[in-house]
Amino acid sequence: MERVASKAEARRAAADARTEGKTVALVPTMGALHEGHLSLVRAACNRADYVAVSVFVNPTQFGPGEDYDSYPRDLEADLRLLAAEGVDLVFAPSAGVMYEPGASVTVDPGALAECWEGEIRPGHFAGVTTVVTKLLSIVRPDLAYFGEKDYQQLQVVRRLVRDLDLGATVVACPIVRDRDGLALSSRNVRLTADERASALAIPAALEAAAVALASREREARALERAMFERLAGEEHLSLDYAVVVDPDTLEPLDTVDGPARALVAARVGDIHLIDNCALVPHPGHSDRRSTNE
Ligand code: PAF
Repeated sequence: MERVASKAEARRAAADARTEGKTVALVPTMGALHEGHLSLVRAACNRADYVAVSVFVNPTQFGPGEDYDSYPRDLEADLRLLAAEGVDLVFAPSAGVMYEPGASVTVDPGALAECWEGEIRPGHFAGVTTVVTKLLSIVRPDLAYFGEKDYQQLQVVRRLVRDLDLGATVVACPIVRDRDGLALSSRNVRLTADERASALAIPAALEAAAVALASREREARALERAMFERLAGEEHLSLDYAVVVDPDTLEPLDTVDGPARALVAARVGDIHLIDNCALVPHPGHSDRRSTNE
């Protein structure tokens, strides 16, 4: 496994692989790797001939007062995990290398970034789209891997790649959960035992929405109520949003007639956690009101 810190070395290594006719995959990460990241790496290794992983805690996607300084970092442990997975290249630049002094051009993340996370974390998605554009320009992968845990980010990145013709195929990988149901996140290590117990209300709320849908409730507001009820009064937890949206546009739905996504974000202690699940009505699923009539 080659480890590089400069953009020129990363560009050269990926270009050499392309010249050899290899399919190149990129897995962008902010390090502090867990099984969720490793599932992306494994999916990339199964499909591509050459797998590059970037490890970069991107300062421009953290707002003032957010956890940039306390975000977990352990490059040596990350390198051991990536070597064991058979990764070819790790690109781990410093912030000063990634962003030249005086860098001022950013990538507008567009309309999909205005709602939900975009509203509570102003500037976050511009930081994401800027760094993802830079990473894709440096590595020029055929395939770029993103997790569904950051569902809005996935949609924003898909739109970015499409609208700016960045030439990679975005591959989405399912959420990986701990045994207790909590979605894996690098931030979980910062939860106290009590906070972690409260955080379990988040996957439980998503489950409540899925159960309500399975019992023929299709009104989005009712599904959201099922989530609020599970989250309400949970100690250490302050809810940001729990919504049922169109999976592509992220706009709130009135009725779940086709594929939908439930999104939840909450602060647990001072840690921002997000989670989501697909809501798929059963074929022939009829409205609870009509079955009651
Ligand atoms: O999902 C993340 O870890 C980050 O937002 C990403 C995509 C690596 C960009 O910094």
